[in-house]
Amino acid sequence: MKRVDDYRLRLGSHELVPIVVGGMGVDISTSALALEAARLGGIGHISDAMVHTVTDRRYHTHYVKDRLRQYKFNVGNPDKSAARFDLGLLAEATRLHVGKTMEAKRGPGLVFVNCMEKLTMNSPRETLRVRLRAAMDAGIDGITLAAGLHLGSFALIQDHPRFRDVKLGIIVSSLRALQIFLKRSARSARMPDYIVVEGPLAGGHLGFGADWAQYDLHAILAEIRAWLAAERLDIPLVPAGGIFTGGDAVDFLEKGAAAVQVATRFTVTHECGLPDDVKQAYFQATEEQIEVNDISPTGYPMRMLRRCPAVGSGVRPNCEAFGYLLDGAGHCQYAEAWERERARLPEGQKVRIWDKTCLCTHMRNFDCWTCGHYTWRLKETSLRDMGGGYRLLSAEHVFRDYQYSAGGKIELPAPGA
Ligand SMILES: Cc1cc2nc3c(=O)[nH]c(=O)nc-3n(C[C@H](O)[C@H](O)[C@H](O)COP(=O)(O)O)c2cc1C
Repeated sequence: MKRVDDYRLRLGSHELVPIVVGGMGVDISTSALALEAARLGGIGHISDAMVHTVTDRRYHTHYVKDRLRQYKFNVGNPDKSAARFDLGLLAEATRLHVGKTMEAKRGPGLVFVNCMEKLTMNSPRETLRVRLRAAMDAGIDGITLAAGLHLGSFALIQDHPRFRDVKLGIIVSSLRALQIFLKRSARSARMPDYIVVEGPLAGGHLGFGADWAQYDLHAILAEIRAWLAAERLDIPLVPAGGIFTGGDAVDFLEKGAAAVQVATRFTVTHECGLPDDVKQAYFQATEEQIEVNDISPTGYPMRMLRRCPAVGSGVRPNCEAFGYLLDGAGHCQYAEAWERERARLPEGQKVRIWDKTCLCTHMRNFDCWTCGHYTWRLKETSLRDMGGGYRLLSAEHVFRDYQYSAGGKIELPAPGA
């Protein structure tokens, strides 16, 4: 029976174990997790989402506090357009986050950064340009363009000295999205180095509508593969979403995938940035508790545990401190929903919002428990302690289980280990 280890992913001069640990913002896929994947010969992702928060926490900077001090005057104002990001500081924070990670990299694998277009930051084009370029300056091995069509992203970096050396990939959920992207990126005379094909069972935001359950990752992958072959384009394909065992991964590799991207299994590892009690909530989740809803202010459907603190919270919008989802005109769907409720309710009554959530505040606090569809199966991957809690796993254990297990088998941690 074949195992993932029987395959290799070739990316330029690199020969890699074909396992990619997907980006999970905000600091859920930590540097430590990405570095483990790279040490073991695969690819790990960090994320540049809310990078100021991440560096404040890890490297004792105070970007968020300073930003809040600067825009404090605007806190009561529903118009958030004044709360712009300082591009110099954004570059500095990104270089710090990426640079420190790359300095610590060991082993034959690669570290990429997940860069979401939907993080519009009150000035979508300029902030995206700075994020991409600063990551390249700081030596990132690759950039995965996520959460958006990224039609202008290559153009933002085509004059960067590393444009042809850094690995560039895009996440798509349909052939149509890929075709549109490739048409535009061709203007930069550069193809992506890899394409992540993300299906409807993934965690985080989804590239599908309310009918997500009608789509099938194998079918989307086959369609994209056939089209690329017809166009004589040889670009590695990396399916993602619901690949829970080494056996699932082999199914895709046998059908021509170059690697697989996985994430959910790593949410219960020591290296994952979620607090331990949230990791236990993931272990304990049942299938019924996992939902795809529309409460993300990005407008994309998002999968999460329905009982997480982010659902039905009425936290005051924190755009002066954060503001990552403000669009180019300073609007955020949550900030608007909050103003609507505040205006409707009598003075002093607690605001609660059910149709949107303050993603910045809740992701920052690890209170928005976004997760993959198969989170309810995590309990199959570990053992219970005497106290009833599940034992956290090492990223190495999960990585090696994907790499070496056969069939649908899942290797449990050694008892007492
Ligand atoms: C907790 C969590 C957070 C995620 N956050 C992001 C993100 O910030 N950006 C992104 O492009 N994908 C994100 N994803 C999607 C993963 O990178 C990955 O493609 C997908 O979840 C793989 O499917 P699996 O979780 O079933 O293995 C997230 C997934 C999870 C589980």
